[in-house]
Amino acid sequence: MSFVGKIQYKNEKQEFDRMETEELIKAAMEAKEHAYAPYSHFRVGAALLTKSGKVYQGCNIENAGYSPTNCAERTAFFKAVYEGEREFAAIAINGDGDDYLYPCGVCRQVMAEFCEPETFRIFVSKKNGEYLEYTLGELFPGAFTKDDIDKARVY
Ligand code: THU
Repeated sequence: MSFVGKIQYKNEKQEFDRMETEELIKAAMEAKEHAYAPYSHFRVGAALLTKSGKVYQGCNIENAGYSPTNCAERTAFFKAVYEGEREFAAIAINGDGDDYLYPCGVCRQVMAEFCEPETFRIFVSKKNGEYLEYTLGELFPGAFTKDDIDKARVY
């Protein structure tokens, strides 16, 4: 299944309404079904929303070498960036646990490359779809970004 529909901000404060957020979580749940997780047996799905309203889904893809494993969030980002997307509004993350599933540090760093800390929304959810909402800045304050490199460049 691919995502159908167009999710958009509810107002100028760049908020989403509950129905739209639930739709994004459903897309993350659906993405989880694509997980390749023969080592951890821990399936994760993500649904990444662009500012233009498109949704890119991702799943975790594990590897016998363990460290080449790619998280669901990064799969979604890399698919979208390959397709030319650079502007993102939100991501929903869903796993099989009874607790909220938060993005790992590496994925937060990838989000920080493309997303604004004050406005990019991260919806962490439980297996049953209950969710909490954060901004990227709340989950990843003080991120190291391109600006830090530009400021200290000596040649
Ligand atoms: N994983 C994700 O895909 N996203 C997260 O936010 C946390 C961890 C995956 C990586 C690995 O395949 C499995 O979950 C166990 O760490």
